[in-house]
Amino acid sequence: MKDNVKVGLLGLGTVGTGVVKMVQDHQEQLAHRVGCSVDVTKVLVKNVDKKREVELPKEALTLDPYDVINDPDVDVIVEVMGGIDETKKLLLAAFHQKKHVVTANKDLVALYGSELLKAASENGCDFYYEASVAGGIPIIRGLADGLASDKIRTMMGIVNGTTNFILTKMNKEGMSYETALKEAQDLGFAEADPTSDVEGLDAARKMAILARLAFSMDIELEDVNVDGISNVSDSDLKHGQTLGYTMKLIGYADQQNGGAEVSVQPTFLSNDHPLAAVNDEYNAVYVYGEAVGETMFYGPGAGGLPTATSIVSDLVAVITNMRLGVNGKSITVPQFEKQLKTPEEKFAKHFIRLHVRDEVGAFSELTKLFSSNGISFEKILQLPLEEEGVAEIVIVTHKASMKNYTQMQEQIKDLAVVHSIESFYRVEGEGA
Ligand code: HSE
Repeated sequence: MKDNVKVGLLGLGTVGTGVVKMVQDHQEQLAHRVGCSVDVTKVLVKNVDKKREVELPKEALTLDPYDVINDPDVDVIVEVMGGIDETKKLLLAAFHQKKHVVTANKDLVALYGSELLKAASENGCDFYYEASVAGGIPIIRGLADGLASDKIRTMMGIVNGTTNFILTKMNKEGMSYETALKEAQDLGFAEADPTSDVEGLDAARKMAILARLAFSMDIELEDVNVDGISNVSDSDLKHGQTLGYTMKLIGYADQQNGGAEVSVQPTFLSNDHPLAAVNDEYNAVYVYGEAVGETMFYGPGAGGLPTATSIVSDLVAVITNMRLGVNGKSITVPQFEKQLKTPEEKFAKHFIRLHVRDEVGAFSELTKLFSSNGISFEKILQLPLEEEGVAEIVIVTHKASMKNYTQMQEQIKDLAVVHSIESFYRVEGEGA
């Protein structure tokens, strides 16, 4: 049995540096947990001469990823360099070299997770990816181990810190979307090109990974319906507040009668839903299991040390498996054939904000349209607008099927009394 496990690191940015720090600073605790010492011995960097926050011998640094992958002494590869196709090639090469892999790469896991798990298992290797979803929150382990005995019915996730920061600023400080985005960029949460965050793609990747695991079904990224927050206005938020809602970018995954649905969209959450209190750049995943009922996992969704915590915990799992001789034995084949819900099988409440002609019969036209589509009103708010002869109407519906809802959305555009359609949002939460 090995008395020292050697780790090869692909990437030494913020997260890679956090991994080296944790392995170096927690040596004693790690040795106690896994029964041997752990060292980072080979590291892929972009510049070997750069001054760094962590001390590593110069001979440990390399510009060639294959120096790490092919190093016969390295037992486990930690991938924190990002990228998709080239990185996938490197990880497949690592499995052929019988190296275990731990990654933080959500793009790669969302797109090729099943293929990489299969390759790992065929080579008797482990493939762990806790850090790919919600940084420091142990949600993958929570689903794979903690709730392994239960049937997961619904998951709702705030899995993107940038958008949660922006929406919190808009909601609590009345900032506009543009000002809040600029502040997120100045503080380093949002990228210079924030598209992947604000348009919901980052959250969609994470929800695909969670849904695949929770529903044991080969859910793919293209199965996730995505809508981002770039069109959310401060007026929408104010109307939501009046009705007792908080706006969040919610990843929603649900399974009923064997059929699954996964989506990401700006959602009005009832203020009494636990996710409504998750603010700033924090992440949280609400999981409803048939037996356990409601649970919620909360914490930092990004950052060097939080993400490194997940990676080093994955290292502990890999090394424990090495010592027990059970690497590559996790169940990787989904239990169920993928079955996605049809629009008739998906149900939700919605918030609809309209400007209508303030004239006799306008409301009855709206009522006729909603009732002809089988959609019933739960809450209605009418406010006069400054513009002469126009009123603002906010409607919250009872649950309706997505088929009926989409049909209504198409038809409402043609109603003569409708001056403009300001917004449509999903509504979720107890009492919502
Ligand atoms: N851009 C991501 C976020 C970082 O804002 O949450 C973590 O994946």
